[in-house]
Amino acid sequence: MRILLLGCEGLLGTTMRATAAADPRVTSMVALGHGEIDITDREQVRRAVREVRPDACVNTAALMPADLCDQEAERAYAVNTLGPRWVSQSCAEVGAVPVYISTDFVFDGQGTRAYRPDDLPRPVQTYGITKLAGEHETRLGSDRHLIARTACLFGPPPVSPTARASFVDRVAAAAAAGNDLKIVDNVVMSPTFTGDLATTVLDLLHHGADSGVYHVVNQGSTSWYRLCVAVLERLGIDAQVTPVEEQFTTTAPRPHHTPLAGELPEFARRIRRPWEAALDEYLGVRRAG
Ligand SMILES: NC(=O)c1ccc[n+]([C@@H]2O[C@H](COP(=O)([O-])OP(=O)(O)OC[C@H]3O[C@@H](n4cnc5c(N)ncnc54)[C@H](OP(=O)(O)O)[C@@H]3O)[C@@H](O)[C@H]2O)c1
Repeated sequence: MRILLLGCEGLLGTTMRATAAADPRVTSMVALGHGEIDITDREQVRRAVREVRPDACVNTAALMPADLCDQEAERAYAVNTLGPRWVSQSCAEVGAVPVYISTDFVFDGQGTRAYRPDDLPRPVQTYGITKLAGEHETRLGSDRHLIARTACLFGPPPVSPTARASFVDRVAAAAAAGNDLKIVDNVVMSPTFTGDLATTVLDLLHHGADSGVYHVVNQGSTSWYRLCVAVLERLGIDAQVTPVEEQFTTTAPRPHHTPLAGELPEFARRIRRPWEAALDEYLGVRRAG
């Protein structure tokens, strides 16, 4: 497989690059960061795809987090919606599969069960609206496509100094620095290890999975507060953590309950492990037995 990776210096892009580089199924990879390509520029995207002629273009570039997207809605639309249009159309021209990474924020979070890929998306803030539109653009631009919705990523820090480390690393650093933490306990989602997501994307491509939307998350769900406690327990950090209700001082409303579910093909085994086991691996926890 020849891979063109976009956004290679972000949180997911950093791990996607390392995972693909170590995977024998990937015969070659060109990985581009924001400094090398602007995905909102149609000609730049077209040129890159034509030059590389990949089997798949994995687009991990995005504008985040949600409050920044509300503040800079036009930029969010350009990066999260138009960029994916150029990627998908360019892929169609050379017979490559565009891979778009989407989010649980396409849902309003009002439900009580886990969302499945065919459930009605109803985003409640600019980030989710522009990501859902990016899904549509991906589908419209190329008959062959993969849309992988994921959530609450944790994994090795991004190469880019402007991209944020994950929640897991941020709470670990804050607690280790002696700060008391107040963490939301009434927002529930599916934490997911970037390594498992990256491997699953390559699995789906390698096996020629059907075009469509996949929910690519580790098994299970939890709140931000319980995730924070799980991190500090594993690292042996003794810190004061207080659960709070919806603390957001930001403008963008967040969905409250967005666990994701949905069958993945049998071959996608790694992502099926519980998020706790993936967190153990990421934090280097050894468990007896
Ligand atoms: N992180 C999560 O918890 C989470 C949850 C659900 C879904 N997702 C999705 O997963 C994907 C990866 O997220 P992430 O956490 O890895 O994001 P990230 O760390 O913010 O990385 C995004 C990368 O995109 C780059 N970028 C921004 N605008 C660009 C442009 N116009 N052209 C080219 N590159 C551009 C950024 O570069 P600069 O830093 O230089 O701007 C950054 O390196 C995204 O599609 C996101 O929506 C993430």
